[in-house]
Amino acid sequence: MEPEGVYVDATAGLGGHSSAILERLSEKGRLYCFEWNEDTYEYLKERFKNEKRVKLYNKSFVELGQVLKTEGVLADGILFDLGLSSYLIEGSGRGFTFQKNEPLDMRMSLNAELTAEFVLNRYTFKELAEVFKRGEVPKAEKFASFICKKRKHKPLSTTKDLVEAVKEFYHSTKKDLLAVVFQSIRIEVNKELENLETALKEAVECLKTGGRLVVISFHSLEDRIVKRFLKECEKIKPLTKKPIVPTKEEVRKNPRARSAKMRVGEKL
Ligand SMILES: C[S@@+](CC[C@H](N)C(=O)[O-])C[C@H]1O[C@@H](n2cnc3c(N)ncnc32)[C@H](O)[C@@H]1O
Repeated sequence: MEPEGVYVDATAGLGGHSSAILERLSEKGRLYCFEWNEDTYEYLKERFKNEKRVKLYNKSFVELGQVLKTEGVLADGILFDLGLSSYLIEGSGRGFTFQKNEPLDMRMSLNAELTAEFVLNRYTFKELAEVFKRGEVPKAEKFASFICKKRKHKPLSTTKDLVEAVKEFYHSTKKDLLAVVFQSIRIEVNKELENLETALKEAVECLKTGGRLVVISFHSLEDRIVKRFLKECEKIKPLTKKPIVPTKEEVRKNPRARSAKMRVGEKL
C-alpha cells in the first residue's frame, strides 16, 4: 500500500477493513468509505469522528464514480467486501436470517425500492420463478407456483411464514436450502448483482494506473461476475488466477468467512 495514497472501502460495514487500511496510511493518505445501510453509517460516523483522513458516504457503491469524480481524485486501491455484516444479520430486525422471526423486509438500505414482502406477495409467478432460478433455488418454478397459491390464502409477512413455506414445499428445513431461498430474495430486493456489475465498471475508471481492485465475494453468483469481469475488462490485469480463500485457522475464528473468495486485479 501507498502510505500517502487514496483508498476506497466500498463496503465499510463496521469499519474493520477501513481501520486496517488506516493503520497503513500516513497523515497524507485518504480513505473514502461507502456504506449503504443507515444504522451502520451512523456507527461508522461515530467510530471515525476524530479521523481526518476519512470521508464517509451513506451511499451505495454504485455512486463511487460520481463521488470520486466530484472529489477530483483517482484511487490507489478499491476494496469491495460484499454481502451482509453481522449487524444486518443479527441486529437490523429486517428479516435477513431464517433463525429469527422478523418482518420480511431484507432491504440493506431504506433507499432500496423493493422489500422481500413485496417480492413474495406481489411479483407475478414468472417474476418470482426468475428470482428463484437466478438464485439457484432448487425446483425454482414449482416453488414459485407453490408460493403464488399459498399467498392467495394468506400473504407471507414474516420470516417464519417463509420458513414454513419452505418446510411445506420441500419437506425440509436444511440450513443450506433455507439460506439459498433467503439469499435469492435478498439479492433481488437489493439488486445486488446489477449493482455489483455497475460498481465494478465504475471502480476501474476511478483507479490510477497500477491501482488495485480487490473484491471479496461470498457466493458463486457474485464470484462469477467478478471472475468474468477481471478476465474480460481490457483495462484490468487479473492478479489472482484462482481466488484467495481463508485458511482453516481464519474459518475457525470467523465461521462466516468460510465461503469467502477474494480476487484482485490491477489497472493497466
Ligand atoms: C460484509 S459487510 C462489510 C464488512 C466490513 N468490511 C468490515 O470490516 O466491517 C458488507 C457491508 O456492505 C454494505 N453494502 C452492501 N451493499 C452495498 C452497496 N451497494 N453500497 C454500499 N454498501 C453496501 C452492507 O450494508 C454491509 O455493511
